[in-house]
Amino acid sequence: MRHARLLLLPAALLLAACQPQAPAEPDPVDAPAAPAEAPASVEDAAATGNADMMREAVSARASATLQATEGNSVAGTLEFTSVDGGVRVTGQVTGLQGGEHGFHVHENGDCSAPDASSAGGHFNPASTAHGRVGQGEHHAGDSDNISANAQGVATVDTLLQGVTLGDGSGTDIVGKGVIVHADPDDYTTQPTGNAGGRLACGVIAAQ
Ligand code: CU
Ligand code: ZN
Repeated sequence: MRHARLLLLPAALLLAACQPQAPAEPDPVDAPAAPAEAPASVEDAAATGNADMMREAVSARASATLQATEGNSVAGTLEFTSVDGGVRVTGQVTGLQGGEHGFHVHENGDCSAPDASSAGGHFNPASTAHGRVGQGEHHAGDSDNISANAQGVATVDTLLQGVTLGDGSGTDIVGKGVIVHADPDDYTTQPTGNAGGRLACGVIAAQ
């Protein structure tokens, strides 16, 4: 009897969340302690009954710390934020040669290989061709090149189109890899953009 009651309780709480007017009267004698209150944004999403919105509210920010591949000293931190139409990436990358460098989200959040080949190819959930964001077909993981100044520092502010952050869908980039390349992406060569070797690799982690 007691076990059955405990099993039913989560369903009762969910119902209460969907119907704010319904009185929630936990039994003062044997009900377990009330769960910690969810963040306001999650409650708002739950009230709409829209599961997608709720997931977005839970994790709309992520970050990645870049680690240099063998023989390189590239470093940096990147922040990922959900925006209209995709995910904005900002941050700074240091230790580069001046000029343009290919920059992509790759399919595996695995930087363990010395050359970061473990990160796999460009993140491509829609099975499209490699290309340039905003100019027709491109991989979801494609981005414009990042540009390093004479000191080897690139200030990143770029848009990824066709990806999401923390919603658990097929386009979610949380848990994927991010790669900085030695050469510029030509936005044309298949399937890599001919961006050369991998200078640094990071794993996109929810915040
Ligand atoms: Cu790449
Ligand atoms: Zn690509």
